[in-house]
Amino acid sequence: MTRKIHIFDTTLRDGEQSPGASMNTEEKLIVAQQLIRMGVDIIEAGFPISSPGDFRSVQEIGRLAGDSCTVCGLTRAVDKDIDRAAEALKTAKRPRIHTGLGVSPSHLRDKLHITEEECIERARHCVSYAKRYVEDVEFYAEDAGRSDQDFLIRVIQAAVDAGATVVNIPDTTGYSLPEAFGARIKSLSDNVIGIENVIISVHTHNDLGMATALALEGVKNGARQIECTINGLGERAGNTALEEVVMAIKMHGEELDAHTDVVTPELTRASHLVSRITGMNVQANKAIVGANAFAHSSGIHQDGVLKARNTYEIIDPADVGAAGSEIILSARSGHAALRHRLSELGYTFKDEEFDDVYNRFLEIADQKKEVYDEDLESMVQERQREVQA
Ligand code: KIV
Ligand code: ZN
Repeated sequence: MTRKIHIFDTTLRDGEQSPGASMNTEEKLIVAQQLIRMGVDIIEAGFPISSPGDFRSVQEIGRLAGDSCTVCGLTRAVDKDIDRAAEALKTAKRPRIHTGLGVSPSHLRDKLHITEEECIERARHCVSYAKRYVEDVEFYAEDAGRSDQDFLIRVIQAAVDAGATVVNIPDTTGYSLPEAFGARIKSLSDNVIGIENVIISVHTHNDLGMATALALEGVKNGARQIECTINGLGERAGNTALEEVVMAIKMHGEELDAHTDVVTPELTRASHLVSRITGMNVQANKAIVGANAFAHSSGIHQDGVLKARNTYEIIDPADVGAAGSEIILSARSGHAALRHRLSELGYTFKDEEFDDVYNRFLEIADQKKEVYDEDLESMVQERQREVQA
């Protein structure tokens, strides 16, 4: 059996921080319901001290989730934040407090104005303070991707010694190269005493378009939790996309020695739901859930897919809940695709007729981005009239 990778969904916290994507409590509850249906392990429901609305969202999602998953609230390494999160999480059967602080030189020097020793002490304190309220405490080392590795080991050691159940290693700015990030995770596994009893989590951002690769490199090197969002929603270029890491793990489970419990046929529904509620469109060529993820437009590809789907499709659309593969007819389509579509519409032509049909099709296709069934119907009817005349 491969290792179980816990899927920590932060669409409702980090995802919602995306400009223009904020959600009210009712909207968050609808998304949370879908996350539960999809089988995620942890829902980060909000940042309770940030607003009364977020406090209520964490409370309501805690109530909704019951036993089905862990519900988590974010805090800074500040006592009053932790008090507030603990209060909001009272409704949850499986509550988790997610607390921590920045650990990179720029966070220490320019944002927090603290020394390394003070940072370690605050890490130790926030975890033990949160432990007064809940058993399950996750510590985050913000901007770990740009931190000094020896110092990171010392901070994580303090969090583990204080009782953290999960240690989150974020590449907050999406700066790292995957291999280097993987080496950081390995170095923590090798050097932090007691880490084998703690889950290492990876939380990566997409500033260089590598969030998914970073998360998977983390998994290869010992991480057992991935923090991610539906559609990769999140600040700036976004967070790791849940649908991407889940499907990559599904396709490469043996090599990664990993599996998740996500119900993948729910992925497309989740994507559409989050897009509709937040008003954030999903780019057509987005992996897994984009409108074109299973669309084939060029003649060579269409010919291949019509002969055998796996020539150009690595995922069965049903596996992610997509409607199915699509053959898009355009000026790049070849004979095979046109013949196939016409026969689906009930029209068959002899070989000697087909060149004429295809040339008529190209004339239409050169004037449009896509040729629809209605265009084909009128083309065939016009040809029939001309042939009969
Ligand atoms: O990107 C980040 O570092 C975060 C932390 C607050 C976990 O979102
Ligand atoms: Zn983040």
